[in-house]
Amino acid sequence: MQDIPVLTVDGPSGSGKGTIVQHVAQKLGWHLLDSGALYRLVAFGSQNNHLSFDDEASIADYAANLDVEFKLVGSDSAQPGMADAKELQIILEGQVVGPELRTETTGNAASIVAAMPAVREALLQRQRDFRQAPGLVADGRDMGTTIFPDAGAKIYLTASAEERAQRRYKQLKDKGISGNLAALLKDINERDERDSQRTASPLKPAEDAVIIDTSNLSIEQVVEQVLAICEQKF
Ligand code: DC
Repeated sequence: MQDIPVLTVDGPSGSGKGTIVQHVAQKLGWHLLDSGALYRLVAFGSQNNHLSFDDEASIADYAANLDVEFKLVGSDSAQPGMADAKELQIILEGQVVGPELRTETTGNAASIVAAMPAVREALLQRQRDFRQAPGLVADGRDMGTTIFPDAGAKIYLTASAEERAQRRYKQLKDKGISGNLAALLKDINERDERDSQRTASPLKPAEDAVIIDTSNLSIEQVVEQVLAICEQKF
């Protein structure tokens, strides 16, 4: 397992990680671990099962037994020359989970359960199990520091809070949802504070991570930089 290559990509919400890692994993033909989705699933599922956020032991127990399946669905025989139409489906306790996993409300709830040391411990091995040949791109907050400290390449993506709020505002607008820029900025600052001040695996760059500030870069430029680093390291 240790000789299977891993690229870790950590950073705060809205740094563009999600999009970047999808492109990079596709280019490399590697597996992808979206660790934030695991914390979101624990928060979402705990709420559905009426667990109290004051009851860390029950939430950790729920996390340890999380009944989730990540499934690639759709045909890969779309028209010749077209990219395949596969998409990742997340099935929690037998039910497909859709856009409700990506809402600000679920993100904030995820940040609360993610601050619980017992929950992080419960998800540790499950995350390491994603390390499968030919390689893994791991996206999160503590991929390079705690989950895969021996990763062959580590990236830390960041961007100013204002830029991240603007991006989120635009994303919502593109989906036809009206957002409030000041409220989004406040949310981002609160989430940053909680994610970086917690004692269990706080958000911070690994000592050997390459830090990329994406504030003034396009997605393509960041993907290019990350792939160049991979070429050097692997
Ligand atoms: O990346 P995201 O927005 O989907 O993550 C949701 C929350 O989960 C985020 O506020 C912090 C937490 N998280 C974490 O603590 N550790 C990770 N490896 C990934 C996410």
